[in-house]
Amino acid sequence: MDKRRVIRAALLGFGTVGSGVYLLASRLGEELVNKAGASLEIRRILVRNLDKKREGADPALFTDNWNEILEDEEIQIVIELMGGIEPARTYVSEALKAGKNVVTANKDLLAEYGGELLELAKQNGCDLMFEASVAGAVPIIRALKQSLAGAELTEVAGIVNGTTNYILTKMSEVSMDYRDALELAMKKGYAEADPTADVEGYDAGRKIAIMASIAFNSRVTFSQVPTEGITKITAKDIQYARDFGYVIKLLGIAKKEEDGIEVKVHPMLVPEDHPLASVRSSFNAVFVRGDACDEAMFMGRGAGKMPTASAVMGDVIDVMVNIIHGSCGRMGCTCYKNIPVKEEGSTMSKYFLRVQVSDRPGALANIAGVLGNNNVSIAQVYQKRSENGVAELVIITDRVMERNFNDSLTVIRGMTAMKEVSSVIRVY
Ligand code: NAP
Ligand code: HSE
Repeated sequence: MDKRRVIRAALLGFGTVGSGVYLLASRLGEELVNKAGASLEIRRILVRNLDKKREGADPALFTDNWNEILEDEEIQIVIELMGGIEPARTYVSEALKAGKNVVTANKDLLAEYGGELLELAKQNGCDLMFEASVAGAVPIIRALKQSLAGAELTEVAGIVNGTTNYILTKMSEVSMDYRDALELAMKKGYAEADPTADVEGYDAGRKIAIMASIAFNSRVTFSQVPTEGITKITAKDIQYARDFGYVIKLLGIAKKEEDGIEVKVHPMLVPEDHPLASVRSSFNAVFVRGDACDEAMFMGRGAGKMPTASAVMGDVIDVMVNIIHGSCGRMGCTCYKNIPVKEEGSTMSKYFLRVQVSDRPGALANIAGVLGNNNVSIAQVYQKRSENGVAELVIITDRVMERNFNDSLTVIRGMTAMKEVSSVIRVY
């Protein structure tokens, strides 16, 4: 092994993750020679604002000119940690066309343009690696692409957003208010710059699109994933869930059915004895089911500076090894099938329904009748009588066609005894 070999890279972005990657690369130092067969030089760091005060890296490394990196033929790895679609899509495409390998943590980009970028990587014999784009330090991309390639996977279900898992854990365990928990998650660096993507389920939607594409060898894009976030979950829902033996989690779920791929993101009541129920705080976990592999779960830190940097550096080391062995582009796109994504409403779910009705004879019977008429069978019912003539009803259904449940909900909302439909949450 040539111990003097140096591989040169550029960082695009020096925010939470970019500064973590720089720190980790410096910390690894010469250890990289043992791990990867060469040392790594971060030659340039692209940022938006050159006037911002930066700590931890030589000021001479910073630039706001992408062309300085693109045109530097010695730079073999571009590490994209800016986020968003543009200019990331342009820079990654240009880097690949110039024969540079790319490592990215950008799920927004991968979930919409993964197919196009992987094709570019293939055409140019380059690596495009994106382990950190899903579940931070949890090595789920490699697991799905390589370790589980021998199994036919049928389900991937994940807690893949650290911010919302942190908020739900704080609301559930210490009765923290939603806003306070969100503020704390932002302070800890888990949340996106605009946390709407976290709390509305878009971030999880991007991650489940990426995982479903790999797990089922068929491209799923973010635009095909119906998403619902956690903003409507109340302390009361959490309490009822607990009483029924569940915890509430935001799940990204993808299933391969006979007639297509079912994929969505929404809060769910997860049975307390399911492995996903015990995943707390900002931890992420991905539960996988397949034929030969049976069930497996992968868990770890899904967000934050160093956990995400750890996944990025794992990819960088892999690319370095490929450069040394002349084998870049070895693991490209694995979407060789074309399975349709099922339409919203044509999928099956169990539901938790909480409503406020006038406390008079026949109210429960009427609701049960509407559900029954729409082929929605009831598994459990709980009624709490309040003092002002309004009763709270909680119903858990069996697994039903979502369209049938939605049809019954439309009728239930219009009933004269109905005061309010307070919550509708799916049950895992
Ligand atoms: P961040 O803290 O907002 O940092 C973004 C960095 O990119 C900043 O240094 C910014 O420059 C630079 N940048 C943005 N737009 C640019 C442009 N047009 N030209 C040049 N530089 C630009 O973001 P982050 O949290 O590190 O996230 C980076 C990526 O990792 C995103 O794709 C994110 O989804 C992903 N990710 C993040 C986490 C996490 O826990 N934070 C976890 C997994 C994946 P300035 O400093 O000059 O503003
Ligand atoms: N905002 C994301 C989260 C960061 O909370 O999980 C990791 O992608």
